[in-house]
Amino acid sequence: MPDRYAVIGHPIAHSQSPLIHGLFAQATGQQLTYEAIDGGDRPGGLARVLEAFRADGGRGVNVTLPFKLEALACAGEADEAARLAGAANALRFEGERIQARNFDGAGLVRDIAVNLAVPLRAARVLLLGAGGAARGAIVPLARAGAGRIVIANRTADKARQLAFDFAPHAGKGCAIAGAGLGEDELGGAFDVVINATSASLAGAALQLPVRSLAGVPLAYDMVYGKGLTPFLRQAQAAGARRLADGIGMLVEQAAEAFAWWRGVRPETAPVIAQLAKPLV
Ligand code: ATR
Repeated sequence: MPDRYAVIGHPIAHSQSPLIHGLFAQATGQQLTYEAIDGGDRPGGLARVLEAFRADGGRGVNVTLPFKLEALACAGEADEAARLAGAANALRFEGERIQARNFDGAGLVRDIAVNLAVPLRAARVLLLGAGGAARGAIVPLARAGAGRIVIANRTADKARQLAFDFAPHAGKGCAIAGAGLGEDELGGAFDVVINATSASLAGAALQLPVRSLAGVPLAYDMVYGKGLTPFLRQAQAAGARRLADGIGMLVEQAAEAFAWWRGVRPETAPVIAQLAKPLV
C-alpha cells in the first residue's frame, strides 16, 4: 500500500494541493496517495480526523483554513516558524508523535527571492494585514534579509502589536514598524508590497495611499487564481513594475512539506507553470 497523505480544511473541494502533490510524486517517482479531507465545521474536530487518518495508514497532512491554529495545538513538537506564527500548515506522524511545521513563510520568501528574482536582502517591505497570513510572513522575511518591514492594517493597533511582538525575533538588521492603512508611514518607498489581508478573497479594495504602491518593483497578493485582484489593480494603476499572485507561494510551501515528508525536494517551476493563471 502506498503511503497516505492529505490536506484537511473546510471547505476543501477547491484545494489545489492534491494536484500539486500528485505532480510532485509523479516527477520524483514517490509511491504515495494524497487526498482532500473535509474536516467539517465543528471547532475542535481536527484531533479526531487526524487520529482516524493516522489509524488508516496516514503519514502526514497539510492543514488549511480553519484548522491551522488547531493543528499546532494537536502537535507534540513544532518548529520555530510554527510557534512564532501560532499556526501549523503541515503535520507529520512519527509513531505516536505529531510534529508540526509552518512552511507558508518559507514558500513566500522562496517565491519572491528565487522564482520572481526580487532580492529581499536590505529590502523595504510593506506587509498589509495583521491576521494569520501576515503573522507567518514576518520572521521569514526578516531572516531573508529584509532591512525594514512596515506592517499596515485596517485596525492599526493590531499591526502595532504585531510589530512589537515580532521585533525581538527579527534580528538586528531588520526594523519593524506597525501602522494603519492610511498613515504617513506608508508614504516611503518600498521594494515589495505584500497583500496578506483577506480583502482579495472578498473582492474588496484596500484604502491605501497610492504613493505606497507607486513604481514599486513588486506587488504581491497572497491570494491566487483570482486574476487581477482589486489590490493588484490598484498596484497596476499606481505603476507597480511587477505583479504576482500567490500561486508560487502555494507550490513552494507544498514542496517544503513534500521534502520534509519524503526526503526529496521536487522541482517547482513546471508545477507553477501548469497552475498559474494569467493576471487579467
Ligand atoms: P488570515 O488568517 O487569512 O490572515 P484573519 O486572521 O481573519 O485572516 O485576518 C484578516 C486580515 O485581513 C486582517 O488583517 C483584516 O484587517 P482587520 O484586522 O482590520 O480586520 C484584513 N482585512 C480583511 N478585509 C479587509 C478589507 N476589506 N480592508 C482591509 N483589510 C481587510
